[in-house]
Amino acid sequence: MLQTTATLIARATLGPAQEIVLHAPELARALAPGQAVLVKCGWGLDPYLRRTFYPVAIDDETWTVRVPPGGDWGHAWLRAAPVGTQIDCLGPVGVGYLVPPGVRNVLCVGVGEEAWSLLPVVALAEARGLSVALAMEARTARELIPPARLPAAVEYHAITADGGSTAGQWADLLAGLLGWADAAVTAAPLAFYSQLAAAVRGVRYDISRGFAQALYPATFLCGTGACQSCVADVAGGRRRVCLRGPVFDLADVVT
Ligand code: FES
Repeated sequence: MLQTTATLIARATLGPAQEIVLHAPELARALAPGQAVLVKCGWGLDPYLRRTFYPVAIDDETWTVRVPPGGDWGHAWLRAAPVGTQIDCLGPVGVGYLVPPGVRNVLCVGVGEEAWSLLPVVALAEARGLSVALAMEARTARELIPPARLPAAVEYHAITADGGSTAGQWADLLAGLLGWADAAVTAAPLAFYSQLAAAVRGVRYDISRGFAQALYPATFLCGTGACQSCVADVAGGRRRVCLRGPVFDLADVVT
């Protein structure tokens, strides 16, 4: 875990959200897809100024966070911070996604804002020459990851709810993709993981450990295991998500 000062070097508005590029090479090089960074969103000494972000892009010197729309004042501070602002950051937090050796076909499954945190693992798998499919659900087309953000070879399936249920669309889509995949990574609200687990059982008869990794969508205060604020029922007991996760085997987040 590093505590470092990052420089805000660029910002862009993308649909309803804003993306902010932070420069701190030491931390960028330590980050893996699925790990969190705690970003101090304010000038004061208040210990609750940090906000949890799962970067949507990582390279050798920078990482990018997506600031969602909403009324959170920490996010509002970050949206207004000018280019050049020095920002205190802590990370990487926890355990990220692994792309196991021997895997050829990687299925990425995301829902809503959480889906954006899959982008670094999509890039990693594609850079290793693996076949990658991404299936994403958003409420509206405006909230989907634009195809231009994905490597050209990625097979992209988008689902929009538009006020209705998406269960049928997911069932049809996953029935095909889960038979193709050697490994799956997912980032979604917790409620979706039961639906995904049922689809995995339907195609593969069981949720075999090691097949699917799921991001537990937690926010962190300390990120070091000290404050207990992230304790959740996961992996067979009460666990600190910042230490054992935030990426778990899917079998550990569904009952
Ligand atoms: S965030 Fe403090 S124990 Fe996990």
